[in-house]
Amino acid sequence: MVALSLLAVSLLALNPVSALWPEPTNVTTGTQTLFINEDIRVTYNGQPIVYTAGYEPSTLTSHDIVQGGVSRALDTIFQDGLYPWKFHLRNETDWEPSLFSLKWVNSLKITQTAFDNTTTFKPLAGQVDESYELTVDTNGQAEITAVSSIGVLRALETFTQLFYTYSSNNFYYTPFVPVSIQDKPVKSHRGIMLDTSRNYYSVAAILRTIDGCAASKLNVLHLHVTDAQSWPLEIEALPELSAKGAYRPDYVYTPADIVKIQLYGAVRGVQVILEIDQPEHTAAIGWAYPELLTAYNYEPYTWYCAEPPCGSLRLNDSAVDTFMDTVMGEITKRVYPYTAYFHVGGDEVTANDTLVDPSVGTNATDVIEELLQIYTDKSFARVRGAGLTPMVWEEIPLDWNVTLGSDVVVQSWLGVSSVESLTNLGYKVIDSNYNFLYLDCGRGQWVTFQPGESYTSDAPYNDWCSPTKSWELIYSYRPSANLTAEQANLVIGSEVAIWSETIDEVTLDTLAWPRASVMGEVLWTGELSEEGSSGTRDQTTAAPRLNELRERLLARGINAASVQMPFCTEGGDCIQPA
Ligand SMILES: *[C@@H]1O[C@H](CO)[C@@H](O)[C@H](O)[C@H]1NC(C)=O
Ligand SMILES: *[C@@H]1O[C@H](CO)[C@@H](O)[C@H](O)[C@H]1NC(C)=O
Ligand SMILES: *[C@@H]1O[C@H](CO)[C@@H](O)[C@H](O)[C@H]1NC(C)=O
Ligand SMILES: *[C@@H]1O[C@H](CO)[C@@H](O)[C@H](O)[C@H]1NC(C)=O
Ligand SMILES: *[C@@H]1O[C@H](CO)[C@@H](O)[C@H](O)[C@H]1NC(C)=O
Ligand SMILES: *[C@@H]1O[C@H](CO)[C@@H](O)[C@H](O)[C@H]1NC(C)=O
Ligand SMILES: *[C@@H]1O[C@H](CO)[C@@H](O)[C@H](O)[C@H]1NC(C)=O
Ligand SMILES: *[C@@H]1O[C@H](CO)[C@@H](O)[C@H](O)[C@H]1NC(C)=O
Repeated sequence: MVALSLLAVSLLALNPVSALWPEPTNVTTGTQTLFINEDIRVTYNGQPIVYTAGYEPSTLTSHDIVQGGVSRALDTIFQDGLYPWKFHLRNETDWEPSLFSLKWVNSLKITQTAFDNTTTFKPLAGQVDESYELTVDTNGQAEITAVSSIGVLRALETFTQLFYTYSSNNFYYTPFVPVSIQDKPVKSHRGIMLDTSRNYYSVAAILRTIDGCAASKLNVLHLHVTDAQSWPLEIEALPELSAKGAYRPDYVYTPADIVKIQLYGAVRGVQVILEIDQPEHTAAIGWAYPELLTAYNYEPYTWYCAEPPCGSLRLNDSAVDTFMDTVMGEITKRVYPYTAYFHVGGDEVTANDTLVDPSVGTNATDVIEELLQIYTDKSFARVRGAGLTPMVWEEIPLDWNVTLGSDVVVQSWLGVSSVESLTNLGYKVIDSNYNFLYLDCGRGQWVTFQPGESYTSDAPYNDWCSPTKSWELIYSYRPSANLTAEQANLVIGSEVAIWSETIDEVTLDTLAWPRASVMGEVLWTGELSEEGSSGTRDQTTAAPRLNELRERLLARGINAASVQMPFCTEGGDCIQPA
């Protein structure tokens, strides 16, 4: 038995298979090798594209986007490519292709079959066609055909994953020719939510996260910009907000930073969506405007909020309306050119906050529901008035029975039954099921405990959403779990969440990658079939591809976590016996 399975694994390892991630819908590859160099002739709808290393688009035009994509793809192959030593038997010495009589990929012909329009660059879910076809023939002709420039970008990422770097300098090759791929995503919203309030992330770290998204065909970066702990967002009309509420004077996203982040994402087909969480999770406003808050810094925090410091915008105070008119009026204008959405929060509203609010004075559910309906209507009006579509957390409709418009996208986090309820109500849903998609979970508590009874009874100090969401668990995530086909269609996609109590940019990459890419494949290629049916993807077939994606991310400057040790990637038996 053991000998047999070892043999099977070794045979697999001896025959290189393309390791594309996410796996394309349809893919066939061959076994001929072609080399590539900087002389490759690239055309876009018949016009030459000049490869310029490091080219960064400065405008949202189809040509600039494609030129940027081509330059990044060739930079990736020639500068940040993968030398795949880890994917060959340890004693195999001749696995690299021969350098005699080289054959080359001579040309890359890109054809876009429709014109882009403004929705292409800031789409609502489903408004941009990301499909593409990619072929590389044995005569060295590569072709990409796509409906939109964003489809071209997706194809170029796949193209880079076909190539390897030779052990000696300056040779780059693909051993998979001929290649034929037709590909398109199953879900249109594939994102990462990053909390930049509990810890600050530099603009560079955010741009690197966008690089990771683009590399694995994720198309949304949702910045949960503000929360209770710090206000890192500059609002020019209210300079004290960030001057006092940011952790440090320089831990602030200026207007120019926001535009830079959004443009960087948009030209990579990654929409950056901002969230100003409200009315809870706003204690950071109190550094400048404590009079707008109720339950500000109240203790014990467990009575007034989910985590310290407490503080919630007053729900029956016209000064709050004026303040939010200013904040939202300014920030929605800033983001409008680059996004279709704005997220207005709404999670974890705590009943006792209105109890201690002098303008309300009760924690009665019906009173809070009515106040939240009015607050949410105003909040959505600000977003819609700016030409954007509102997003909100699930508690607003589910816990407080607030009625939303049919345009609104609801972000769910509490799991399958919440998604069932929301889709029953007919709402469009983004699922961030914490049982699968919360990447911060399972690393222990950030609060410290009192010595004494609880000191020992709370051991081993697990966090609330333990265990860790391993890549295998994320790979088993099914956005359609327990839904009818009609309900499943309302789930426009999912986001992994990176809440930042114990994460900052030092550990960001290892926590995000490659696990975010694992959700990415579930959303792009489709969820794994339920146990017992005849699916083709599973953990065992995915692991070699994921190991390779991880190495490619590393080569591109993203410190993705290790998936398996080289013993496994070299063909060792790392499969749990049945
Ligand atoms: C590598 O080692 C394996 C296992 O010992 C052996 O079967 C194989 O022949 C060796 N291959 C080479 C190229 O030495
Ligand atoms: C924009 O392009 C998409 C295809 O990428 C198409 O579905 C949509 O109808 C176009 N919108 C407009 C306003 O032309
Ligand atoms: C993949 O191939 C199947 C069978 O030929 C076809 O029905 C399907 O449309 C193809 N998918 C794409 C994205 O082209
Ligand atoms: C609300 O506050 C009261 C004190 O006024 C406290 O007894 C109660 O436990 C709090 N509710 C919750 C859910 O913590
Ligand atoms: C509402 O306030 C009362 C009185 O302080 C308290 O006993 C109760 O626990 C509160 N309810 C909630 C949901 O906090
Ligand atoms: C809101 O405040 C007004 C006074 O400004 C008061 O008349 C009204 O009852 C309050 N509403 C609630 C729900 O407490
Ligand atoms: C929720 O709101 C709807 C419409 O406003 C109302 O018909 C329904 O009774 C409410 N349900 C609860 C549980 O409050
Ligand atoms: C799905 O629904 C079934 C039957 O209603 C229930 O037993 C199961 O717990 C649900 N699954 C999840 C993940 O909620």
